[in-house]
Amino acid sequence: MGSPLVKSVGQGDAALWRWAEEVYAPEDPVLLEIRERSAAEGLPTIQVGAFDGLHLEVLARACGWRRAVEIGTLGGYSGVCLLRGMGPEGRLDTFELDPRHAEVARRSFERAGLASQVTIHLGPALERLAEVATRAPFDLVFIDADKGGYPAYLDWAERHLRPGGAVLADNTFGFGKIHLPGGEGREAADLSALRDFNRRLASGGAFRATMLPTGEGLSLGVKVG
Ligand SMILES: C[S@@+](CC[C@H](N)C(=O)[O-])C[C@H]1O[C@@H](n2cnc3c(N)ncnc32)[C@H](O)[C@@H]1O
Repeated sequence: MGSPLVKSVGQGDAALWRWAEEVYAPEDPVLLEIRERSAAEGLPTIQVGAFDGLHLEVLARACGWRRAVEIGTLGGYSGVCLLRGMGPEGRLDTFELDPRHAEVARRSFERAGLASQVTIHLGPALERLAEVATRAPFDLVFIDADKGGYPAYLDWAERHLRPGGAVLADNTFGFGKIHLPGGEGREAADLSALRDFNRRLASGGAFRATMLPTGEGLSLGVKVG
């Protein structure tokens, strides 16, 4: 049995990935309920994947994060994962543009028994982030909202994380198009912003960073500068 030189997630074998999901069971009944209720309420099904949620929880536990900012709440799925990982002393400030999404998330945090540990900030994140600036420095900034905003969110993270704190960002493979030239309109602008984000995170000096090879691409940087 050998290991191929070019390694893809699960070595490109969907059945292998299903096996891992059976063994690690990343989604419990509470998360399943949040995912299903969010869809039933008409929210887009764009929450992190079940395994990515487990990554968030386990990373939070491993790194001892207690104070996190999340940009992009949706129905609260990833927020619940982060809060579970941060434990009873954990505190999450999460930012959401759409009031309907925020209302679904509010019920999700209640359902998970975590409502007292979270504040949902409603409105465009770039305008609302100032509301938590006085509570900096943070252990984690998790970016999962409008792709065009990623470079500005990275700037904010750099200024408001403690040394050793982390930035995590989902969808940094640009929906499979990050490496492709061309594109038009909004998509081209979003891809350009995501490329800028990746390059600056990888080589900007403030972070030591890697790309966790998930389906969507989950960038992880630790603040070193
Ligand atoms: C991919 S979803 C977040 C998924 C969530 N992190 C999860 O995994 O459960 C992106 C969310 O960001 C919100 N959003 C988009 N632009 C935003 C902005 N400028 N400020 C705050 N939230 C924004 C959207 O309304 C949407 O709910």
